Amino acid sequence: MIEILFLFFLLMIIGNVLWYSWRFGITPTPTSRKVGKSIIDILPFIKEDQRIYELGSGWGTMSFALATHYPQCEIYAFEISPIPYFFSKLLNGRKNILYARKDFLSVPLRQASLIFCYLYPGAMESLKEKLQNELQAGTWIITHTFAIRGWIPNKIFHANDLYNTPIYIYLIK
Ligand SMILES: C[S@@+](CC[C@H](N)C(=O)[O-])C[C@H]1O[C@@H](n2cnc3c(N)ncnc32)[C@H](O)[C@@H]1O
Repeated sequence: MIEILFLFFLLMIIGNVLWYSWRFGITPTPTSRKVGKSIIDILPFIKEDQRIYELGSGWGTMSFALATHYPQCEIYAFEISPIPYFFSKLLNGRKNILYARKDFLSVPLRQASLIFCYLYPGAMESLKEKLQNELQAGTWIITHTFAIRGWIPNKIFHANDLYNTPIYIYLIK
């Protein structure tokens, strides 16, 4: 009986993750350790008390790394899929991370000093207009793998992994 309940519970969890992945076009694939380290190595300096937003924070891997790198800043991590969201909230070991279960397209972005995301081309396209309209001059955008189509990045780095994963950096003028 216990086994059946466990199996049912497991299937519910997997089903929920798959349903949100289908609905929002991407699975909660975490940034790999190597790519994460390459991203942390190239992060710009951000002043105290500034806000850093992670759009689509998945299981919380990168928000944790960002919070460690920027202990003087607040990390706002937005994730729509409930299971990864609860997981990251449960394991949150940093006081400077605020997790919110929200569609990032409904979140005002103008207070961000740095935005990090790892999404997919369709989401980057939906986000583009919002970034254009809401971000202030001096805001950094760092995007893992997927560029913002039509924008010229200030810099493109390549991670030290098997795929030389591109990391695009934009600075709003
Ligand atoms: C590839 S994962 C990246 C996770 C994390 N940023 C990392 O680098 O480890 C993308 C995440 O974005 C989330 N996502 C996609 N569209 C979203 C939206 N509109 N609002 C909030 N989260 C979203 C997905 O649920 C998924 O967990």
